[in-house]
Amino acid sequence: MSTLTVTKSSSEDALAPAAANGPVRLKAPFARSELEALVIRYGSPLMVIDCDQVRAQYRALASALPGVDLHYALKPLPELTVVKVLKTEGCFFDLASGGEVDVVRAAGVLPERCIHTHPIKRDSDIREALRFGVRTFVADNADELGKFIRHRKRCEVLLRVAFRAPDAIVDLSRKFGCQPESVPELLAVAARLEIKVTGLSFHVGSQVASPSTYVDAIKACGRLIKEANESGIAKLHVLDIGGGFPVSYGAAMQPINDFCAPIRAALSALPPDVRVIAEPGRFIAAPAGTCVATVIGRAVKNGVPWYYLDDGVYGSFSGQMFDHANFPIDSLRSDGERIPSVLAGPTCDSIDIVAENVLLPPLEIGDLIIGRVMGAYCSASATDFNFIRRARVLPVNVTVEIG
Ligand SMILES: Cc1ncc(COP(=O)(O)O)c(C=O)c1O
Repeated sequence: MSTLTVTKSSSEDALAPAAANGPVRLKAPFARSELEALVIRYGSPLMVIDCDQVRAQYRALASALPGVDLHYALKPLPELTVVKVLKTEGCFFDLASGGEVDVVRAAGVLPERCIHTHPIKRDSDIREALRFGVRTFVADNADELGKFIRHRKRCEVLLRVAFRAPDAIVDLSRKFGCQPESVPELLAVAARLEIKVTGLSFHVGSQVASPSTYVDAIKACGRLIKEANESGIAKLHVLDIGGGFPVSYGAAMQPINDFCAPIRAALSALPPDVRVIAEPGRFIAAPAGTCVATVIGRAVKNGVPWYYLDDGVYGSFSGQMFDHANFPIDSLRSDGERIPSVLAGPTCDSIDIVAENVLLPPLEIGDLIIGRVMGAYCSASATDFNFIRRARVLPVNVTVEIG
């Protein structure tokens, strides 16, 4: 993916390029004519990524968590342009696979600005990240620590601790993380193996409703860090507070600055020499993504209109399945009485239904449907099932010269 260039034609004037052959500039929320023009130019389905929004989200979180180094977690949206945009903002990066290493390498990110936080790794995963120059990894059990014996001179490890947030939409502490009580024992194992553990990490789960689990986890980790340093078993000076920061999928939400207020208070009680980092993914990526799909077929079943789209739950709407998200969906056409309708995806599978009982005006084949807040965990988990091409990811408002 490179900087978008625009060649003008009369039907595409709505795109308002910043300059002839310059990057596409769109003013959010995108106008109907702009989205139609994008489809004429780039085809359908599309996942339009607004880089202005990426920047705004990064800046909002950075200002809500002053002094915390934000490592963008690539997994929700591993897009080269997004990484380049965030690099220009001074962002750090969080990787979990060799593919993600390739993206940051291609973006020209320095390896010392990256950490690798997958708790379970193959030796080849570790080597791949090491070859790039990453030095900080995560482990949550003795086996995993053992994988660093041969690399111990070249890396340091954060121990991931489990803190389960009952209100997280995606629970990440069931599968990963040791119990807080196991930390002293694992530090002893690491000391025996001569593996340098420099801190603790946690991830309270994705899309958490309240900051209370962060606060509890920060307090518990503060105590564990103090005890470890006092006992002399390790010298811990990093706390990674993970991702999980929530976005609004339609319902009213606390502004991020208010959400983070108790987190800031908890962090301020940590010893001053502890460097705090975070791994936000969804918060930065989700609001930037607008899915644009086209009605490719229609039917009426038991009096209910069905509209078949060129994108579905095997594609961009995979976030509904894997991420349990309910995206705000609407038609670009707004004339006519809205009645309960069904939106279905393009595959031959009957599970491929995007929305039922959605209030829509009468639609024609060729009309566009848009899904908002779809930047995270949507195109990233799309498949090619039925060999149906997934949506093209289209970064707009790139504005900076990123090559
Ligand atoms: C290790 C790790 N870090 C960061 C993230 C990003 O979390 P979120 O998108 O909730 O901010 C995830 C998500 O799965 C993760 O597993």
